[in-house]
Amino acid sequence: MFTIRLTDVSDDTHTRVLPVGPGLDPEMSALVGATEGADTAGRITVFPRPLRQPSRVLLAGVGAGDEAAWRAAGAAIVREAGDDETLEALLPADLAPAALRGLAEGLWLGGYRYRDAVKAPRSGEVRLVLDDPSAYAESLAAARVTAEATWLARDLTNTPASVKNPEWFAGQIVAEAARRTGLTVTVRAGDELERFGGLRAVGGGSVSPPRFVEISWQPPGATTHVVLVGKGITFDTGGISIKPRDSMKLMKKDMGGAAAVVAATLGAADLNLPVRITTLVPLAENAIGGGAFRPGDVITHYDGSTTENTNSDAEGRLVLADALAYAAAELSPDLVIDLATLTGANAVALGKRTAALISPDEELVTALTAAGEAAGEQMWRLPLADDYVEHQRSDIADRINAGAGPGVITAALFLRDFYGPVRWAHFDMSAPSWSESADGELTKGATGWGARTLLRYLSALDGGQQAGA
Ligand code: BES
Ligand code: MN
Ligand code: ZN
Repeated sequence: MFTIRLTDVSDDTHTRVLPVGPGLDPEMSALVGATEGADTAGRITVFPRPLRQPSRVLLAGVGAGDEAAWRAAGAAIVREAGDDETLEALLPADLAPAALRGLAEGLWLGGYRYRDAVKAPRSGEVRLVLDDPSAYAESLAAARVTAEATWLARDLTNTPASVKNPEWFAGQIVAEAARRTGLTVTVRAGDELERFGGLRAVGGGSVSPPRFVEISWQPPGATTHVVLVGKGITFDTGGISIKPRDSMKLMKKDMGGAAAVVAATLGAADLNLPVRITTLVPLAENAIGGGAFRPGDVITHYDGSTTENTNSDAEGRLVLADALAYAAAELSPDLVIDLATLTGANAVALGKRTAALISPDEELVTALTAAGEAAGEQMWRLPLADDYVEHQRSDIADRINAGAGPGVITAALFLRDFYGPVRWAHFDMSAPSWSESADGELTKGATGWGARTLLRYLSALDGGQQAGA
């Protein structure tokens, strides 16, 4: 990834970037006046200057000039830049720290490349020219942590399922945690999963057995204890209730929730956030084999309650159930947030970019929605509608896993059984976890959805400052 440098000197030899938007300096107004729409956020207008220095000038529209608009500008700039190009952006004297954060995040997120597909590292650099660079160091640091968390979530999700079996994924978490101080990781396997009946059932058909990873960040003096849970299905064939081939194509991404919560936890440690976090990731491959769980099987979860499997493609909720029950029984959390690529119905209800947020807790909904807005990730609340509970009845167990009704809501109703008397929010982020093309700060492939929202949310807890805002 290329470097972003804050500086107060500029020279004329590098590609010049001029932000254009509200309060244009008069010199530029003439240029922009002749270029319809150049101030639209994310629009780049290129002026080649053959045989002169700088050899090209880019006008970068920053629209309304808020953080989101600067983020869009950053992503557009990095797409225009060559791999080895040095750019110099002359920034306004009164630039808000949040705007710089947006610009840096846009540059780093839009410039992402999957780590295993990078042939030659980018040697280019973006110099951000400011009157007082030191005033922006904290904003740049916050952007860096946010971008690194998102890169990691994208890298994990883009990794082929042949590589990222549960053991490999757990190893990645252990290795990333070991690079930081203050994180402890426990990996459970084999007999240690005895009480995790959902995880064992779902992972039973694979030659790569399941893991349950617990990460703990416990800074001294923390008052709030947040538990994060992420669905970590390393590949979802649908199991014995096999998926049609088109629906299976992208199912390496079925651990996007786990990737996001892991990345956010590492980021929280990087930012030294004063909040206690326990992160739980049930990891399993939903495969087909002699050991696979069957329709009609009854599963006993961590809390001793039972589920009749009526569709082994509704596997995510089975592994999340154990994790939520474990959190409620063992961790005394103040609140639990889970992220999961849980249903195809997410995209049907809300389209390709918007996660579904379901929670009975108004305050949590408000705070998470604000965090998503600030971070640039979209979400929309859906109701936890009791109307469908009766469809989950089983004759032989406490419930079935695939009852009729609107998919996002029935999945959330299933999960609600397990969270106990704590504040809880559930994100179904199946749709926004992947992008079919580059779009703003998203690159083609995994988006890392959720890492940014969680980091903003956690940064605002316990009196913490929203760095850069
Ligand atoms: N991993 C899928 C959901 C999914 C679908 C994620 C498309 C991303 C894109 C999940 O395990 C699943 O198969 N859900 C079923 C639930 C149904 C069987 C009740 C679904 O949505 O069809
Ligand atoms: Mn499935
Ligand atoms: Zn799944």
